[in-house]
Amino acid sequence: MTFDPTPFVRRRAHFLKLIGDGVALIPTAPTCLRNRDNPHPYRADSHFWHLTGFPEPEAVLVLAGGRSILFCREKDVLREIWNGFRYGPAAAAETFGFDEAYPIATLDEKLPPLIADRPTLWHAFGLDAQWDTRVARALDAVRAEARIGKRPPHQLRDWRAPLDALRIIKDKAEQDLMRRAADITSSGHARAMRACAACARTEYALEAELTYEFRRHGASGHAYTPIVAGGKNACTLHYVDNSQPLTDGDLVLIDAGCEFAGYAADITRTFPVNGRFSPAQKECYEIVLAAQSAAIAATCPGVRYNVPHEAAVRVLTQGMVDLKLLAGDVDGLIESAAYRRFYMHNTGHWLGLDVHDVGDYREAGEWRELAPGMTLTCEPGLYIPAVPDIPAALHNIGIRIEDDVLVTPEGCEVYTTAPKSVAEIEEMMRGA
Ligand code: GLY
Ligand code: MN
Ligand code: MN
Repeated sequence: MTFDPTPFVRRRAHFLKLIGDGVALIPTAPTCLRNRDNPHPYRADSHFWHLTGFPEPEAVLVLAGGRSILFCREKDVLREIWNGFRYGPAAAAETFGFDEAYPIATLDEKLPPLIADRPTLWHAFGLDAQWDTRVARALDAVRAEARIGKRPPHQLRDWRAPLDALRIIKDKAEQDLMRRAADITSSGHARAMRACAACARTEYALEAELTYEFRRHGASGHAYTPIVAGGKNACTLHYVDNSQPLTDGDLVLIDAGCEFAGYAADITRTFPVNGRFSPAQKECYEIVLAAQSAAIAATCPGVRYNVPHEAAVRVLTQGMVDLKLLAGDVDGLIESAAYRRFYMHNTGHWLGLDVHDVGDYREAGEWRELAPGMTLTCEPGLYIPAVPDIPAALHNIGIRIEDDVLVTPEGCEVYTTAPKSVAEIEEMMRGA
């Protein structure tokens, strides 16, 4: 498939307009060694990716004077034999729609004239000490030319706030990619359910099914370390060992999402290892599902960010009373935060290039209003420890149900479609 630079060019044009006569430096992520000369798989910086779609390390986008300029690695026949194709500046400019492109090795020489006499320099201070030093050196080089009338920018600003604000609203191209990430991830969860029913009875075997499904559909892999948690492991919120056998009669919680073209999906499903919910498991599951339905129903434009969470908390707290986990009136139990013993996280987060995506949750101290294009997860849960004051039938039940939701002008669209109701899950597992 040929690369279409249109959405990236449009995003750069938007940001160029915002910075006016200023100059912005947006580097990509460094490579990262796993051990000795063995690198982690490379992933571009999300902000850089959002504005360029350029996949190589050792690159920086400079926006100045209405132009977008890329600095990147030069072609290198020998290195390409070992490590693969490099665009080089000319092909990068052509393919990705930059106005100019130069070898990254020339950056330190070209940067001072690019920043001189501009009113504002935009840089993410403190993100990377090497870039801070490089920027400081460029500023010094301009100051050294004061005698010939050159002046460094008199205002230094951080581009994270405006770029975060741009990224929080997903454009059409992003929505399409996120829908694809959600589709692939939904298939992965359905596959894991079927595999479990067909006797893949370890956490790691289910992880392998997810990985297989993600990769065979062209996802780069997992967007975050997956959680495959059988039985009591589901009550450890960030359990990632995925190393244990699964036990007949337990639930298994899977929180996993693929990354497709840089975009994350984030789905959690919880299902019975043996394919049939016990009465106690089903009762708890239906409470979490009802909490999620209430939260999704509350997700629409103009509603403040905390409203879906509060809707979920109300249903969960009533459920805790019904299960005799808590006693008292629901308003009082919410007011005193008693419910947090069994539901200790929030109901969602922004989702995009990062699984916990950028963007403020509050503005001027108030929860932010949802707007079309915002994308968030909806992930209520219920986690019941094995302690003497709780009925034994409920011990170690850990349930989370998580879907990915786009705010639309009319309300919302749930991207994710993995089996979710008790009937859908049992049917999927029966058919395996
Ligand atoms: N998978 C990370 C989260 O649900 O927030
Ligand atoms: Mn999540
Ligand atoms: Mn998740």
